[in-house]
Amino acid sequence: MNMTENKANTTLAGTTAIVTGASRGFGRAIAAGLAAAGAHVVGVARGVTQLDELRDELGDRFTPVAGDAADPEVAVRLIDEHRPHTLVLCAGASPTMSSLPEQTWESFSQNWNVDVAQAFHWSQRALRRPLAPGSSVIAMSSGAAVNGSPLSGGYAGAKAAVKFIADYAGIESQRAGLDIRFVSVLPRLTPATELGAKAVAAYAGRQGIDVDTFLQAGGPALTAEQVGQSVLAIAGGADRDHGAYLLTAAGLSPLS
Ligand SMILES: NC(=O)c1ccc[n+]([C@@H]2O[C@H](COP(=O)([O-])OP(=O)(O)OC[C@H]3O[C@@H](n4cnc5c(N)ncnc54)[C@H](OP(=O)(O)O)[C@@H]3O)[C@@H](O)[C@H]2O)c1
Repeated sequence: MNMTENKANTTLAGTTAIVTGASRGFGRAIAAGLAAAGAHVVGVARGVTQLDELRDELGDRFTPVAGDAADPEVAVRLIDEHRPHTLVLCAGASPTMSSLPEQTWESFSQNWNVDVAQAFHWSQRALRRPLAPGSSVIAMSSGAAVNGSPLSGGYAGAKAAVKFIADYAGIESQRAGLDIRFVSVLPRLTPATELGAKAVAAYAGRQGIDVDTFLQAGGPALTAEQVGQSVLAIAGGADRDHGAYLLTAAGLSPLS
């Protein structure tokens, strides 16, 4: 255990966390990391099978909840019921991978209707309730918010909006003296999850190269476990000075 993990364990032991998108990918690794640090984790996703598998793995430290994270009633109910010390908004729609001329408005706006709606409803409830002083809300944005993502419709713009919502919520928290920290994390594209693998395949195809060649050109790939440990470090309060971080295989770096 390194010093950062040790500090997170001390800070988070006995607290409650809610993680949306906990059934697979980044969210699953984040839920496992928080549970290992001694938090009780409420994991949210629409599909119950994978949530139940995680419950089998983590035991009593994990409570599965089937629900749509974009539904405002789910946000209000779960925040009011659990009053989380840590809230991780990791659920995200898997974008339709195709070029702009091939998108429909429905496919283009998918991530606005899920990822942005989620960030809006949960952040608003966290402020209105409000969560207890010292709580953290961590929203999963994407490196695409900075670099664009021309094959995934409205994904990059939606992820930029997620970051802005976290920024705005942080400003309101500070103005009202709530001491609720809002942080966005912008991971680099990785084939380590279902969503990421689909995007990597699309970009490799667009360049007319195979996936391995595409990945080799990009250097070491971020793993879900690294995302879990990075979110754990933020939740454990390792660094309270920054509101947004880029995340690559080399670790977190503050976004100015
Ligand atoms: N992988 C990457 O390269 C990458 C890079 C940057 C940012 N991100 C972001 O990181 C987050 C996690 O991505 P991932 O790669 O781990 O994706 P993933 O493997 O596809 O997992 C997505 C998770 O979100 C859940 N989910 C989707 N829509 C939901 C909804 N409406 N309500 C509740 N849960 C919902 C899914 O479960 P159900 O389908 O059962 O609901 C699943 O647990 C996303 O916000 C994504 O945009 C990913």
